[in-house]
Amino acid sequence: MAKLIGKNKLNSAIFISGRGSNLKSLINFAKKNSSPIKITLVISNKKNAKGLNYAKQNNIKTIVVIYKNKLKAEKKILSDISKNNIRLICLAGFMKILSKKFISKFNGKILNIHPSLLPNYKGLNAHRRVIGNKEKFTGCTVHLVNSRLDSGKIILQKKIRVFKKDNENSLSKKVLKIEHKLYPKAVKKLLSNL
Ligand code: GRF
Repeated sequence: MAKLIGKNKLNSAIFISGRGSNLKSLINFAKKNSSPIKITLVISNKKNAKGLNYAKQNNIKTIVVIYKNKLKAEKKILSDISKNNIRLICLAGFMKILSKKFISKFNGKILNIHPSLLPNYKGLNAHRRVIGNKEKFTGCTVHLVNSRLDSGKIILQKKIRVFKKDNENSLSKKVLKIEHKLYPKAVKKLLSNL
């Protein structure tokens, strides 16, 4: 870990599509001396993503890549991340699935955060399904990205109780709060093994 502190922090890119609250927590984390990453680039597939504002407020370079054609969009992203010497990608609410080719061509690690206890409730609307199935527990997971949706190696998980009075909205607020703590922890854990 020592080699990733100070000037040697790992160049990282965060991919977003919207609100960007996990991006915000990663930006705050990256500012700490003890953080092993520097956020060099924020990539969004939506030009109006709210998260782009946090990046700009923190003088982080932003790139918007519109996905009219997946192949071309990924080619553009690969070129941007190689120009910026990016070694870690953190998906944070990025609503596009990266192709197998992209994953194999990227010379680094890719993480994602998902709002459920994987391998349960992969995909969209996890909280709605958790409530529908009257689960007693839920949580969030940070995992490595492979070519199958929400299926890569799990780095860290955090579990919380679901109460009878919870609904989709209350649950998503509670889980989001723990996501903001878990993502930086998982980045640290992943990189401490380098
Ligand atoms: C989070 O719930 C994350 O787990 C999921 O998408 C949401 C993104 O929220 N992948 P935000 O844009 O980070 O606020």
